[in-house]
Amino acid sequence: MSRSAAANDPTPADAAPHTLPTLGVVLVAAGRGERLGAGVPKAFVELHGRPLVEFGIATVTSLPHAGHLALVVPGDRAAEALELIDQVVPERSAWSVTVVPGGRERHESVRFGLDALPASIDTVLVHDAARPFASVELFERVIEAVRKTGVSAVPALPISDTVKRVDAAGVVHETVDRAPLVAVQTPQGFPRELLAAAHSTAQLHDGEDAGSAPTDDAEVVQRSGGTVRTVPGEVRAHKLTTQADLALLEAILEVNVAGVAEAL
Ligand code: C5P
Repeated sequence: MSRSAAANDPTPADAAPHTLPTLGVVLVAAGRGERLGAGVPKAFVELHGRPLVEFGIATVTSLPHAGHLALVVPGDRAAEALELIDQVVPERSAWSVTVVPGGRERHESVRFGLDALPASIDTVLVHDAARPFASVELFERVIEAVRKTGVSAVPALPISDTVKRVDAAGVVHETVDRAPLVAVQTPQGFPRELLAAAHSTAQLHDGEDAGSAPTDDAEVVQRSGGTVRTVPGEVRAHKLTTQADLALLEAILEVNVAGVAEAL
């Protein structure tokens, strides 16, 4: 699905001439968001009247690269997604866009997005639409790390809270050494062939097995034996998961509007 023939063409007439896109971004927005309980998929929850996914589309298509965005959404949101793209992506953008229906698990949604990327793409970033305020600088940091090192790169933040292992009843059993632990975010970046190969062997998980589904692409790559490096993450790339996160994102948006988001 695409907004027009040009939007689905990896070399649209209005993109920089003779420049095939080498950067692909898979923006996953097809989750149901059950932990949030908002009644709409969480990528379509609104902040200041704009669905979260709109912020991600705007950031990705403002990156100074010739690129292709594969936007993965629930099947019944495709028309809405195409309208958003028309509103957000300038006509003369160097970015082409494809809208793809999502899968049953996050990694299946990513695979569907990967399948929609043109052959010229050599570097892929996967980003959660539920992290609407990841900055252009963070995207660039990840892209640079992948292209310089040739391996996968993910943003990570140190953990400042004391970490405990608890049982199902909430009883504490031990304090975990936090020194070697980090909290990992998106966008996560990969050499395209490596990510595609890792996803081609990833299995779906159901029933009792559901807890072992990979929750990010770094995990998919690691399970297939790949090396993943970290780059510094940022607080503003916070993910919407529960209602409390909505207030935090609201605050990040306000700081951003005030033009001081670099501090985050
Ligand atoms: O649920 P979770 O927070 O792990 O979702 C992270 C991102 O993955 C969200 O942007 C969500 O829309 C996306 N996702 C998806 N397809 C799924 C599950 C999650 O695109 N089946």
